[in-house]
Amino acid sequence: MSSLEAVLIPGDGIGPEVADAARQVLAASGVDIHWHVFEAGLKAQEIGQDPLPEALVEAVRATGVALKGPITTPVGYGFTSVNVGLRRALDLFVNLRPIRSLPGTFSRFENVDLVIIRENTEGLYIGDETWLDQDTVIAAKLVTRSGSTRIARFAFDYAQAHGRSSVTAVHKANILKESDGLFLSCARKTAADYPGLLFKDRIIDALCMDLVVDPARHDVMLCPNLYGDIVSDLAAGLVGGLGTVPGANLGHRCAIFEAVHGSAPDIAGQGIANPTALILAGILLLRHLGENSAALRIEQGLDAVYTAGANLPPDMGGSGNTQSFTETLIKQIS
Ligand code: NAI
Ligand code: MG
Repeated sequence: MSSLEAVLIPGDGIGPEVADAARQVLAASGVDIHWHVFEAGLKAQEIGQDPLPEALVEAVRATGVALKGPITTPVGYGFTSVNVGLRRALDLFVNLRPIRSLPGTFSRFENVDLVIIRENTEGLYIGDETWLDQDTVIAAKLVTRSGSTRIARFAFDYAQAHGRSSVTAVHKANILKESDGLFLSCARKTAADYPGLLFKDRIIDALCMDLVVDPARHDVMLCPNLYGDIVSDLAAGLVGGLGTVPGANLGHRCAIFEAVHGSAPDIAGQGIANPTALILAGILLLRHLGENSAALRIEQGLDAVYTAGANLPPDMGGSGNTQSFTETLIKQIS
């Protein structure tokens, strides 16, 4: 057994339910992780802390890795997104989201295998909104040459290292000729250094249609922040829903692994949330730490449980729940 240090942020809503499941599954894989647990968002406020406590940010800096449940962001009022705050505070400029069909998953498509690489620190997510007068707001969209080039470089390096065939830059440069135009030109310039990879570009609306008609039209998708957010949920729908899609927020020094889904207030507390997305995020975390055999054990366990189809959570059409699914998976791994 190796002993590793990592931060665990259970989050709120279904967060604590799926985080508990993921933690149990990682433990069953034989890797001994010492978790430093931190609250954030509403739960941190409830105990008199800042929504994004400095101690949490420091702990992620110190350990270098975190597994994070979803955190509710108040809509239209209240504190700014803790998720966005963490990504910016730690300069986690990559949001990597592999979208893969699990065996037997209920969906129109089989064998979907896409990768979304989302720019994670710029675009409209800087949250810079100004009232010009009582009836007019303007939102700033930040696009820098350095930010666009580093995410493009990551996308092509990832595609090359993982044997992918193409990279599609996603944009709306027909309308946003300067901002999306800069993102696209940085992608195009970077593509020239990777002659072995096919480079395409696609306008965001047309890309959405491509994906719902035939997901195999694309492979690695390089997206500015907002388009990456939207395309992620769309792509999750191609593999049966948000319950099975993980994400990794990566920087040069730290990494935070989470699900693509949010806190799902509509099902929170019912014990029926699908923990697969956060378990898959845990697999990404294990690979990041070099724990490849434990990662493979969980991955094979998930494949076996989904193939057998017993105790799958309700979002996958099963009659199981968070606990029975987790127990079935742990039995499979052990
Ligand atoms: P959501 O992703 O929480 O839920 C959308 C739909 O998918 C709901 O019907 C929900 O029940 C279902 N769903 C999501 N995860 C599921 C799972 N593991 N198992 C089964 N069903 C699942 O999106 P919503 O409702 O728009 O957002 C809720 C809150 O979460 C908001 O405050 C939002 O800001 C926050 N959020 C946080 C994220 C994060 O922490 N990284 C990411 C996305 C949203
Ligand atoms: Mg999202």
